[in-house]
Amino acid sequence: MGRILVTGGMGAIGSAAVRWLVEAGHRPVIFDRQGSNELVADLLGEIDIEVGDLRSWGRVAEVIRRHDVDRIIHLAVLLPEEAAREPDQAIEVNVGATTAICELARIMGLRRVVFASSKGVYRRFAPPYSHPEYRPVDETHPVEPDDMYDITKYAAERIGIDYARRHGVDFIALRFAATYGPGRMVRHGSVAIRSAIIENAWFGRPTILARGADQQDDFVYTKDIAQALGKAAFVESVTDRVFNIGTGQASTLAAAAQILRREVPGAHIEIGPGADYGTGSGHYCIFDISRARRQLGYEPAYDHERGILDYLAFLSATAPRG
Ligand SMILES: NC(=O)c1ccc[n+]([C@@H]2O[C@H](COP(=O)([O-])OP(=O)(O)OC[C@H]3O[C@@H](n4cnc5c(N)ncnc54)[C@H](O)[C@@H]3O)[C@@H](O)[C@H]2O)c1
Repeated sequence: MGRILVTGGMGAIGSAAVRWLVEAGHRPVIFDRQGSNELVADLLGEIDIEVGDLRSWGRVAEVIRRHDVDRIIHLAVLLPEEAAREPDQAIEVNVGATTAICELARIMGLRRVVFASSKGVYRRFAPPYSHPEYRPVDETHPVEPDDMYDITKYAAERIGIDYARRHGVDFIALRFAATYGPGRMVRHGSVAIRSAIIENAWFGRPTILARGADQQDDFVYTKDIAQALGKAAFVESVTDRVFNIGTGQASTLAAAAQILRREVPGAHIEIGPGADYGTGSGHYCIFDISRARRQLGYEPAYDHERGILDYLAFLSATAPRG
């Protein structure tokens, strides 16, 4: 069997995916433009790291050949704030590099490409899919991405599916719900709200939100995202190409605050009543994950409490409190 390449493998989700792969017995290759290995520092003997920019796709081809890669988990991305600021770069990285990866998969006969997409491709959620009923959203929900990042994600999905149809490239897109986990704070800004309140509590900083205690959302821990990516990379075959990945469960920041007050002495968190805490994308929903369960064998292991406890354990090991 060939090796697996993880683009963006130094990032929050990439590092979790790499960890999942190592635990499953693989020796993954990371391709990332940043050399900072702090999220994979304990895995250095079990992985290979190639520092480079995906836009130099000749270099990606060379890495694929040299490491005998036959599957790619493609995560490298320009995130929402950067994508809005520099749309041309967003097209180049999020759409152009994904197209190049599909083309390399076609030319080099790779076995699978797994792409990280987003719930942002869906039309903004309105009742009954939003507050207060939150009917579960499945993959047939209408799509209507409305900011640059989500537009690039949807374009990349469609290009991958076109490669599957025309050229037999085995492409799978996973649409993530709101994610949280170590590393999310580094580049994600205000959209990493759940990671922010956990880290604020841990590092003794207050979290004060004027409203949002009643807002429900599907918050999925990066270790569950990693499981979905790993399973999608190795599952024998699928009948669909797009999958929702979340927990399938509603959670609130108020419930997270309660757990944090219990676990972290002195945690200072105030969240006023009402929906929409206003710091995220405004795309709040609960995913129906039955397609991923059936076809990928995906089963989330971290409910909202377990995810927070695991995150706190990570912080305790890497950044002990004084
Ligand atoms: N809810 C959602 O919709 C959602 C949530 C989280 C992540 N995602 C997707 O998951 C993927 C991973 O996200 P993350 O949270 O780990 O982000 P991250 O920013 O932590 O990691 C992205 C990595 O990609 C690398 N990268 C960026 N441009 C590159 C380039 N041109 N060449 C090589 N490497 C490059 C960065 O250095 C970084 O290490 C992304 O595709 C993201 O869009 C979706």
